[in-house]
Amino acid sequence: MGAVRRIDAARAGRPGPATADPIVQVRGITKRYGSTEALKDVDVDVPRGKLTTLLGPSGCGKTTLLKIVAGLLDATAGEVLVNGKPISGPGPERAFVFQDFALMPWATVITNVAFGLEMRGVPKAERLETARHCIREVGLAGFEDRYPHELSGGMRQRVGLARALAVSADVLLLDEPFSAVDEQTRRKFQEDLLRLRHQENKTFLFVTHSIEEAVYLSDAIVMLSRRPGRVNRIIEPAIDRSGSPDEIRRDRHYLDTVEEIWHSLRDFVE
Ligand SMILES: Nc1ncnc2c1ncn2[C@@H]1O[C@H](COP(=O)(O)OP(=O)(O)O)[C@@H](O)[C@H]1O
Ligand SMILES: [Mg+2]
Repeated sequence: MGAVRRIDAARAGRPGPATADPIVQVRGITKRYGSTEALKDVDVDVPRGKLTTLLGPSGCGKTTLLKIVAGLLDATAGEVLVNGKPISGPGPERAFVFQDFALMPWATVITNVAFGLEMRGVPKAERLETARHCIREVGLAGFEDRYPHELSGGMRQRVGLARALAVSADVLLLDEPFSAVDEQTRRKFQEDLLRLRHQENKTFLFVTHSIEEAVYLSDAIVMLSRRPGRVNRIIEPAIDRSGSPDEIRRDRHYLDTVEEIWHSLRDFVE
């Protein structure tokens, strides 16, 4: 098989990465907005404790699919199961990290991070302690009392992530979290995500249109076709991530996988 373990959806006869323990199962999801068909019959398994990426061209329905998994948007057909049970809306086991951060501008970092816990009735001392821990986890220690407008885009993004960590959701749904930040911030944040995945044992479902980012971060990459989005292929990059970020990006398997996805995108995008 070489560098990449690939599963061609059509041939495998099985929709998602072969996993014995999917935490999220997307089953036959179709979404229409009026006459626009955004997604067609999408099946994806999201394995527990892994980082799965939805990769595809702009407009192919990535955000739509993520919102359906979050329970923020209803599908036209199909269903989403979380821990084997169909969802009917948002739930505490899933947290959505918005592309535009969605922070409360009048509240400090720590209040923003603790907000979800307040909603759940967690006592003040406990929620502040949890919020402080999560702020440290995303590298923002010392910024607890700042306001969102005093932070850079990258830092605001980290506040959004800390807020998702604080509510102890098992599944973090991230919609192109790096699109609004500069390259250096982006790389640092990518490293933090990999670290968090190991430390906190979270499941990530991540949206990007960057092939390099997908290959760098993902255990599995779900490639969606142009609108209406369908699952074209699932690729599981076999990359040794024990080295430094630079070593990973020079790794032959990393480079081969990026190359392979480029080729395959060319095949199905044109
Ligand atoms: N609320 C909406 N009403 C009508 N069309 C929408 C709406 N949201 C998304 N679309 C359309 O559905 C398609 C998929 O959108 P989206 O999920 O945002 O794609 P992506 O995130 O992959 O760029 C696009 O053609 C978009 O214009
Ligand atoms: Mg989008």
